[in-house]
Amino acid sequence: MPGIESEPLKFAYWVPNVSGGLVTSDIEQRTDWGYEYNRDLAVLAENSGFEYALSQVRYTASYGAAYQHESTGFSLALLLATQRLKVIAAIHPGLWHPGVLAKFIASADVISGGRAAVNVVSGWFKDEFTGLGEPWLEHDERYRRSEEFIRVLKELWASDHAEFGGDFYRIHDFDIKPKPVGRPHPEIFQGGNSTAARKLAGRVSDWYFSNGKDFDGFSEQVEEVRGYAAENDHAVRFGLNGFVIARETESEAKAVLREIVEKANTDAVEGFRNAVKQAGGSTSDKKGMWADSEFKDLVQYNDGFRTGLIGTPEQIADRAIEYKRRGANLLLLGFLHYLEDVEHFGKHVLPVIRAKEADLERGAATPEPLAVSTP
Ligand SMILES: Cc1cc2nc3c(=O)[nH]c(=O)nc-3n(C[C@H](O)[C@H](O)[C@H](O)COP(=O)(O)O)c2cc1C
Repeated sequence: MPGIESEPLKFAYWVPNVSGGLVTSDIEQRTDWGYEYNRDLAVLAENSGFEYALSQVRYTASYGAAYQHESTGFSLALLLATQRLKVIAAIHPGLWHPGVLAKFIASADVISGGRAAVNVVSGWFKDEFTGLGEPWLEHDERYRRSEEFIRVLKELWASDHAEFGGDFYRIHDFDIKPKPVGRPHPEIFQGGNSTAARKLAGRVSDWYFSNGKDFDGFSEQVEEVRGYAAENDHAVRFGLNGFVIARETESEAKAVLREIVEKANTDAVEGFRNAVKQAGGSTSDKKGMWADSEFKDLVQYNDGFRTGLIGTPEQIADRAIEYKRRGANLLLLGFLHYLEDVEHFGKHVLPVIRAKEADLERGAATPEPLAVSTP
């Protein structure tokens, strides 16, 4: 994919469609999981430089999240409330039939003028599957199913006579109309970082999402996934999760992080820690999400503190640029008080990032990256 590295860094935010915000902590959070708040947030985000929003999927009250809005319906509502924002809905193979989802996303894409996307999540939460009476496949089998799921989506979106013969799905002479309008198809993001997840991205995903990582942890994934993609003559982009705490001084930002962790909801974090052992940690090479997470990392569901986007706008911009140099095409961001923090990011952090990106393009020397700034 020529020129992919020189594209401007893109920004996404986690839609707070699950109650309790993005941290499992009793710190005051002014974020609201309801629709009106999220509608206003989506409009604010697209006016603040965000190109994407990612709706989470959680089906049952659990681990500090008592209420959840369903991701595909909620994403469509946000698409209708906005003009330019692309909204990515997280979905589980195993709980959706790919033909039904292909149909839903095709309609959402047509209605929104090509702004619908999906995040295929293979699953870590066993109780959600067994509680719904669905089988819980072994880790790598979940990824084999996800690959078939993605291939079926693409086939149904492209062909007037879709055919697919797999172990999980069989499609025969099927025609979905209307076809989506996004080209070549609605973008397919993929969450999951195990070896099986990396290989999947190297074969079929448009985007590989990394959990929060320091520089080396991110680079290690980029190199491996790029290797798999090269073997398959496939192009994949990279998104990296990070939790942003931007304040006037570094010590103020770090104090907020300390308070979040000190006020962590310990039972919820421990329950979550136990449940996510079903992810990459359950495989023989123990690579994957949460495989080496500590308690304080898990206070942010997706290890977002590890990315170290915590400090002054200048410090955050320096790190963002370093991640870009290491292969990030997109930063997926979470915030404490969404409405306030997204607006602040757009006004005070993004312009610094854009100025540094312009320097990078001109070949100007970039400052040495800062050390990972978690206390
Ligand atoms: C950015 C991102 C978003 C994710 N969103 C969800 C989600 O909304 N719901 C969910 O159940 N899992 C979600 N996951 C989890 C993964 O899809 C995956 O199923 C799980 O973590 C196992 O990953 P691994 O075994 O490959 O390490 C997300 C992962 C990432 C990286």
